Amino acid sequence: MTSIIPLAEIDPQLVEALLDSAFGTDRHDRTAYRLREGMTMLEGLSLAAVDEERHELLGSIQCWPVALTDQQGKKHPMIMVGPVAVYPDFQREGIGRAMMTALLKEIQPDDPLPLVMIGDPEYYERFFGFSAEGTAGWSLPGPWEPSRLLVRSNPKHPLPETGTLGPWTQSRV
Ligand SMILES: CC(C)(COP(=O)(O)OP(=O)(O)OC[C@H]1O[C@@H](n2cnc3c(N)ncnc32)[C@H](O)[C@@H]1OP(=O)(O)O)[C@@H](O)C(=O)NCCC(=O)NCCS
Repeated sequence: MTSIIPLAEIDPQLVEALLDSAFGTDRHDRTAYRLREGMTMLEGLSLAAVDEERHELLGSIQCWPVALTDQQGKKHPMIMVGPVAVYPDFQREGIGRAMMTALLKEIQPDDPLPLVMIGDPEYYERFFGFSAEGTAGWSLPGPWEPSRLLVRSNPKHPLPETGTLGPWTQSRV
């Protein structure tokens, strides 16, 4: 049986091996890694899918603190989702959906922080309501495909149309 448990319970080396398998060993050069450089993973929102009988890691989902800095220099905090990974042999069996569904349940339901990610719109829009609409004017610290910069936010709180996405560091006071 597959269970969803805190990622903190998994040996970090096993998580690295999973991510190498899903994204390749050159993954550290990706813009997604620069977006959260220097940040600590949000442990309460980072999960693992495990096969309970075989004590095997099948997939993982991580969350990181990032912020969109608007043209006035104001930071708009967001939760960056990713990497999301499932071992190739176990993909398309519902594990990715189970992990994301579990994550969404953990998020403050009344006034959630916006979720942002770089991912396949066909998957994340279809199942979880992410969209690239509204992110076209954002800048990132590296190359990205605009159609893959996705956000899921409360429509009552519109996000800035322009800004720079990066680690959620404290502003100088
Ligand atoms: C993307 C990923 C996390 C999805 O998890 P998964 O467990 O394989 O997918 P699920 O079983 O939950 O979902 C299955 C459904 O999603 C669709 N789907 C899966 N991956 C998809 C993708 N990348 N694009 C579009 N649709 C996709 C399947 O066709 C299937 O649809 P169906 O039910 O109509 O047949 C996983 O395939 C993966 O690790 N891929 C490599 C790493 C990656 O690209 N991560 C995302 C960026 S952070």
